[in-house]
Amino acid sequence: ADKLAPEDMLFSYRGILYPLTFSSPDTLEALKSFEARSDDVILVGYPKSGTNWLEQMVKELADAKYTEEEMKERINAEKKLETFQRLEFGDPGIYERMKQLPSRRIIVTHLRPDLLPPSIFQSKAKILVLVRNPKDSAVSYYHFCNDLPALPSSTSWDEFFADFMNGKLAWGSYFDYLVEWNKYIDNETIMTISYEELKEDPIVGMKKIASFFGFSLCEEDFLRIAKKTSFKAMKEKSNETHGKFGDVLFRKGVVGNWRDLFSKAQNEEMFRKFQESLGGTKMAAKIKYDVYC
Ligand code: A3P
Repeated sequence: ADKLAPEDMLFSYRGILYPLTFSSPDTLEALKSFEARSDDVILVGYPKSGTNWLEQMVKELADAKYTEEEMKERINAEKKLETFQRLEFGDPGIYERMKQLPSRRIIVTHLRPDLLPPSIFQSKAKILVLVRNPKDSAVSYYHFCNDLPALPSSTSWDEFFADFMNGKLAWGSYFDYLVEWNKYIDNETIMTISYEELKEDPIVGMKKIASFFGFSLCEEDFLRIAKKTSFKAMKEKSNETHGKFGDVLFRKGVVGNWRDLFSKAQNEEMFRKFQESLGGTKMAAKIKYDVYC
């Protein structure tokens, strides 16, 4: 498909690129005024780390306690207020409208902590940080950029790899993102979870999440939600849940897909970068970085 030139698709705000289709400098300025609540559920993930999956899981976990009638009211409130899928998306008026959403609000963002509004930390709202092996995130992001009209395509994997390494893409460098979040890793209001552990055992992962946010569910709920949020189930429903984005959001849903595209040299280069950025940190220990081919 014909795409606009990259400079007509992305804008730069405080040195990081964002897609114009979803956001604007005015929105990111207005974001500073966002008022977090102590009971907000904040979900953070760099693009392509499985954010939509985590969002769906957490919504299901949080919603299990509502009756069908209550759920309808909550969904209607979101529709009426024209909220957006990500905290940094939409028009500058969005943060004013979000004040009218009933608690507990589930707020999803791809932003680094230094770009989040201060009220998120001051409110002591709990923050769940999702991480994924950067190699799989890179491959996922490469396909996403090529398939999504709103983001610039790359002419080759090698070109995209270089941009990923240099952070020359929407939401900036994944390595910087991890370095920034690592500064908060001991914060008692923050928990980290990896795509890989959710894949390995979604029930164990969901139990950790539920206990962190204080959601109470029974064994049957966890089983039901695990089924409903499996890759297959979510892909099948993707056009219903994510409209035209459905087809590009649910691609493979596996661990280790980086092997399809990484050369030996790229594998080594990224490992060096990972070590330089994060070696010896608690964040590095959270990431399931598989070193060898
Ligand atoms: P792949 O491109 O590797 O398949 P995000 O939601 O942050 O954009 O992340 C998208 C990635 O999460 C894609 O990875 C997508 O397939 C994967 N994903 C989405 N839903 C999933 C699910 N239910 N289980 C496992 N992976 C899922």
